[in-house]
Amino acid sequence: MLNFTVITLFPPMFESPLGHSILKKAQEKGLISVRLVNPRDYTTDKHRTTDDSPYGGGQGMVMKPEPLVAAIEDVKKKLNRPRVILLSPGGKLFDQAEAQRLSRETELVLVCGRYEGIDERVKAFVDEELSVGDYTLSGGELAAMVVIDAVARLIPGVLGNLKSPEEESFAEGLLEYPQYTRPEEFRGMKVPDLLLSGDHERIQSWRRGMSLKLTSERRPDLFSEARLSPEEKQNFRGAMGRLYIALLHHPVYDKNGEVVTTAVTNMDIHDIARSARTYGVRRFYVVTPVKALQKLALKIIAHWEEGYGSQYNHTRKEALALARVKDTLDDAILDVEQECGGKPQRVVTTARPGGNRTSFAELRKMLREDSAPFLLLLGTGWGLTDAVLAQSDYILEPIEGGTNYNHLSVRSAAAIILDRLLGTD
Ligand SMILES: C[S@@+](CC[C@H](N)C(=O)[O-])C[C@H]1O[C@@H](n2cnc3c(N)ncnc32)[C@H](O)[C@@H]1O
Repeated sequence: MLNFTVITLFPPMFESPLGHSILKKAQEKGLISVRLVNPRDYTTDKHRTTDDSPYGGGQGMVMKPEPLVAAIEDVKKKLNRPRVILLSPGGKLFDQAEAQRLSRETELVLVCGRYEGIDERVKAFVDEELSVGDYTLSGGELAAMVVIDAVARLIPGVLGNLKSPEEESFAEGLLEYPQYTRPEEFRGMKVPDLLLSGDHERIQSWRRGMSLKLTSERRPDLFSEARLSPEEKQNFRGAMGRLYIALLHHPVYDKNGEVVTTAVTNMDIHDIARSARTYGVRRFYVVTPVKALQKLALKIIAHWEEGYGSQYNHTRKEALALARVKDTLDDAILDVEQECGGKPQRVVTTARPGGNRTSFAELRKMLREDSAPFLLLLGTGWGLTDAVLAQSDYILEPIEGGTNYNHLSVRSAAAIILDRLLGTD
């Protein structure tokens, strides 16, 4: 049971917020109580004055110390070891951790200022000052209501479903994942397939991933304080963790402009995996329809992931752990979709100049600000075919070296592109 006592010049302001829904039920169940005390009742003059003009001049009026302190002292006398809090824009920021802390108290007194504020000397009679945010409210009442609401819902039994406070935004220092309910499709927007799958383990992991992604994108301040597993730390640093790479061995052009399938090379797999790991790419797909080449790629990866190489050089193991072998580009896209719950934006890279190219800066910004996953397609041989380009969402501008020679290896191009998209500023 937590008893709130609010010292306010405007007790009727609390009627509506306390008279509905969760806070109403919490009072009915005897889990919280709210008492309202008006400092005006502690005035001694005929006009029941609670404010006066500021010493030193200036705008507005200031709350006089006598009635406020008399109210605080009277309340303190009647209560068993209350914690007295002044709502003040200059106070410590009230956040979820503060709400948790206060939910363990039994008697909370919330003092609301009004007008231009309160006489500074009142602060000697309170235990602490709390602010609900970096803006100025007209009075402490709304701030007190915020505190009552956020604290009350943490008291066991106040929320019907006991688990929900733990899953909400900020519960673990993270923002909450997106929520959906019926209908499955609304105005063309579909609920992510994964949430309809019934696979609770994958749903949990998607939700955790979305919480991390949203927090890293929108609240880097919270994110830097969040408790993450080492793998999560690696995957969710800013824009990182949402970029996927696919190295296509088919369909690509040969030097005569014929569509061919190129060979898988040890060097490409190694070097691109190492760049991918360095820049926080989520996954690296090696795409080839040729079974023998798939086997070769898998053998290279397994050697460093599980075989002798994994003991010999564990940093290489970490890089190659990002690699997956896929038959086709569509298979790689499906894999991203299954992991992220949405189709990736396809970005093709080409050394060929042309119109309508997306600049590195534009894509870098999208990676930081959009929530969609991006799949960067790298071509082998003489580059990705026009058909692949036509099906993409973005065509990235070519890397220019300032000469008329433009024949970077795909692994060098990958490293340069990753640095431009994800490298530190
Ligand atoms: C208009 S404000 C006074 C602001 C004061 N002149 C200042 O700049 O600090 C009146 C009262 O509203 C309350 N208040 C305003 N903003 C608040 C905030 N962000 N958090 C908590 N209380 C706030 C405080 O009780 C304050 O005394």
